[in-house]
Amino acid sequence: MKQSILVTGGAGFIGSHCCVELLDHNFNVIVLDNLSNSSIKVLDRIKKITGKELHFIQGDIRDKVLLDQVFTQHHIDAVIHFAGLKAVGESMQVPLTYFDNNISGSITLLQAMQQHRIGHLVFSSSATVYGENYPSPLHEDLPTAQPTNNYGYSKLAVEQILQATAKANDLWSFALLRYFNPIGAHQSGLIGEDPNGIPNNLLPYVTQTAMGKREVLSIYGHDYPTQDGTGVRDFIHVVDLAHAHVKALQYLFTHKPSVGIWNIGTGTGYSVLEVVKRFEQVNQLKLNYQFVERRAGDVAVCFADANKAKQDLGFVAEHNLDDMLRDVWHWQSQNPDGYA
Ligand code: NAD
Ligand code: UFG
Repeated sequence: MKQSILVTGGAGFIGSHCCVELLDHNFNVIVLDNLSNSSIKVLDRIKKITGKELHFIQGDIRDKVLLDQVFTQHHIDAVIHFAGLKAVGESMQVPLTYFDNNISGSITLLQAMQQHRIGHLVFSSSATVYGENYPSPLHEDLPTAQPTNNYGYSKLAVEQILQATAKANDLWSFALLRYFNPIGAHQSGLIGEDPNGIPNNLLPYVTQTAMGKREVLSIYGHDYPTQDGTGVRDFIHVVDLAHAHVKALQYLFTHKPSVGIWNIGTGTGYSVLEVVKRFEQVNQLKLNYQFVERRAGDVAVCFADANKAKQDLGFVAEHNLDDMLRDVWHWQSQNPDGYA
């Protein structure tokens, strides 16, 4: 019998790519999303790519009554939990909104799962839980550190809640996936990242500048102790990241660890300037950019030790930087206004 996966936040950037991967791996997919940062149009696109239907429920993970209905009406084998707010700057302005959505939302989801005896969950964590002070590569054994922003704090808090919850009850089997920098888009050009307003992250800013929607890309910092003075990050193709979720699910089903923690990155760092230059080269265009002051809260270098995911999950990222930059431009140029 097919296994059924509840995907919270499945209409979002990473969630939509994960739905494609799950459908391609023959899972039944039930998406619960309040569409606060995504478009209903993504559902048709997923169907176009996979030729398969998923079940969509528009709603909020903090809605206890709705969650009870979802778990009562659907047979669910595991949950992949993407739903959350993710804008670092905004999290400093409205901390309680972030804590309510990301932390309380996760607790409400866990309560419903417990009530319905569903114990497998994959959680979207972030490299932000390592804090700012460790040299890369970052290994999962490093103690976590206090994040400097409220978004990061919400991720660390949920990680800690999951670890404490798992200790108390052998129902649970949790995968904590610490993502590095997800970029790119599905090769079809049908789904991709569609940020609201002015993008915070590098790649959406790059593509919107290339489109002429933004005048100039500001590169934050040219004086970091790196090969060219710009920040270094571990960029991972969102399709690889989606694949890692299927691997993690399979691991939970076969090994049933109480808690497993895995970095999901490539293990290679590229500088911001390298990314900009490769983007120009791969896509045969010129990008308007300027160097400006460092951005507060940024670290110089952040990349993963990716060995644990390889050993335990058999996960290795397959797409290289050029693939990521080609696919992200394909998506943006095919969809100049995203899903609008
Ligand atoms: P996204 O905003 O595109 O997707 C999140 C989805 O969750 C959206 O569709 C949104 O509508 C939905 N959502 C938000 N709050 C909800 C709620 N209370 N109930 C139901 N649905 C809700 O973000 P993404 O980039 O796809 O990120 C997915 C997850 O991965 C998030 O938890 C994010 O914090 C985490 N993460 C992202 C990155 C990154 O760089 N994109 C890095 C590390 C971790
Ligand atoms: N950058 C620019 N110009 C821009 C945007 C970004 O130069 O317009 C630079 C940043 O200074 C940084 C690099 O590009 O050096 C990557 O920045 P992003 O904002 O794309 O990503 P971050 O590494 O800051 O953040 C990401 C995720 C967060 C997560 C964090 C740590 O977006 O969710 O990694 O894991 F918390």
